[in-house]
Amino acid sequence: MNRAAPTRPRSGALPALLFALCATPAFASPDLDPLAEKGRQIMQAAECTRCHGVTDAAATAGVGRGIAPIERAMNCVTCHQWILGTKGDPAAIARQRQTFPDWDRYLDNIVHFRRLPDLGTLTRRVDPAFVRRFLDAPFDLRPHLDESMIPLRLSADDKDAVVAYLTALNGDAAVKRGRAGEAAVGPERIEAGRQAFLTAGCPTCHVMGAEPLVPGYGPAFFAAMGDRALLAPDLRFVRDRIPRATLVRFIVQPTAVDPRSTMPPLGVSPERAGQIADFLLHAPVKDGPAPQVAIDEAKPLSRQVTWDEVFEEVLGLICVHCHMNPESNDGDGGAGNTGGLGFAGLQLDLETYAGVKRGLVRDGRRVSIVEPPRPGEPPLLLAALLRRHAEAGRDVRPPYSGRRADAAGPDPQRPGMPLGLPPLPPEKVRMIATWLAQGAPGPAGR
Ligand code: HEC
Ligand code: HEC
Ligand code: HEC
Ligand code: HEC
Repeated sequence: MNRAAPTRPRSGALPALLFALCATPAFASPDLDPLAEKGRQIMQAAECTRCHGVTDAAATAGVGRGIAPIERAMNCVTCHQWILGTKGDPAAIARQRQTFPDWDRYLDNIVHFRRLPDLGTLTRRVDPAFVRRFLDAPFDLRPHLDESMIPLRLSADDKDAVVAYLTALNGDAAVKRGRAGEAAVGPERIEAGRQAFLTAGCPTCHVMGAEPLVPGYGPAFFAAMGDRALLAPDLRFVRDRIPRATLVRFIVQPTAVDPRSTMPPLGVSPERAGQIADFLLHAPVKDGPAPQVAIDEAKPLSRQVTWDEVFEEVLGLICVHCHMNPESNDGDGGAGNTGGLGFAGLQLDLETYAGVKRGLVRDGRRVSIVEPPRPGEPPLLLAALLRRHAEAGRDVRPPYSGRRADAAGPDPQRPGMPLGLPPLPPEKVRMIATWLAQGAPGPAGR
């Protein structure tokens, strides 16, 4: 899709106005043991609530021991939801247009960060030991969701504290470790479970590794399911996440386990739920190779690439949201510039040509992102895009693609770009590579 309209006003300046209109919520006083309280504070400092809700299901009013969502001006999810919430409401859109002339473009452009899992009730369903491992090496759990969990720059102790907090939030309702009491399961029982799983309609939202469940249920089908399927995990990981008893209860009535669950109850009897649970826990899983994208960045396009193209199709569309020009945004340049999401920031502004040419700051020194750091090496801008492709085997998997055991996840010290989003399509990487090889010309060829 080409949205190029080179003369239109840029996005960065608008969110600045949006930011200014937002209110700040109040904080609650916690009632947690010291380790859990430490975890709560770490999550606040790392800004997990820019993306996740952290609800305290036991709170009758306010946030209780949960964490209040970061104000909308900073919140990737609630701001996008606010904007998309006016879709189909001509009066509301007309009202917003008076302040934000590009409101209609926002409605067209925003697809990501509008619905992410709540972490507050997670340990009612998921073993805290899994959560701890996930924080070390996050991977693609939800194949219908484009976005990825970001790598964390937290110490082992800090991650322990985070998990202690997420566990304490649910008190006695949190999953206990261990798989005691699980009997061996034979192939007939697994097959009965598979049939029950198919009959109950589970594959309309869920996949299970690379196992082909229902012909025709591919990425297009799941996209058409929309929000109902968006957050449905790949059930291939259930055996690492959910003990059997919890699993059976969840299948019968999701909200009986997790009051925040958005999975609809499907009227499955406890007996059938038991069969399905045994299928999910014991069926052999297929882990096919994930598709690998070949990017021939060494073969440049045989045409001139302009700054406008680079900006309209990549930097201004995707990257500015974390690499803004702080001057047009009340000093906030985003996570990759002035810092955020647990990162210190590299003072990298991708909203202006001057910013791109200025490059980033590492160890107190300005470093170019458009020139090779050493002869024969890709410029840092290209290297970051290629790293994201390398991470994708573990971090971005289409349904039924399986899991590549050999794929490395993002390195928190050097994450690929765009952070938390799918890699750029190969043709866009090639476009950037060509622009760089042509000397990274600026507006009107400067
Ligand atoms: C930029 C947005 C973003 C931020 C900030 C973020 N996350 Fe996530 N997180 C995600 C996304 C997207 C997923 C879903 C990944 C998936 O399921 O494929 C996720 C998933 C998770 C999960 C797995 C949930 C499950 O179902 O098991 C945990 C745990 C988690 N995040 C913890 C954290 C913590 C702790 C922080 C802060 C230190 C944090 N996240 C910050 C985007 C974010
Ligand atoms: C104050 C409101 C606001 C906040 C906060 C916000 N965004 Fe956005 N976001 C927007 C608007 C408006 C657009 C559309 C811009 C345009 O069309 O030029 C957008 C578009 C995007 C896009 C491109 C479209 C898409 O869905 O892929 C990405 C990526 C994005 N935002 C990421 C983020 C991330 C990550 C965060 C949190 C770190 C964030 N945004 C926080 C308002 C916001
Ligand atoms: C309409 C879509 C839909 C259907 C149909 C559906 N689910 Fe789900 N399921 C979801 C969503 C969405 C979630 C995530 C819920 C949440 O995070 O609260 C989920 C979560 C789960 C989980 C938790 C997995 C994990 O790793 O955390 C299990 C187990 C599960 N579903 C099993 C089933 C079974 C078994 C069936 C069929 C009886 C089924 N689902 C049918 C949407 C669906
Ligand atoms: C969700 C936020 C986010 C998005 C979106 C994003 N970045 Fe980043 N970017 C970061 C963070 C955070 C860092 C690392 C900051 C640090 O090290 O403190 C970073 C670092 C970088 C670096 C330096 C890499 C190095 O050599 O260490 C480059 C280059 C970069 N980003 C380019 C991009 C490009 C190009 C895009 C769009 C395709 C993009 N970023 C999108 C957050 C983001």
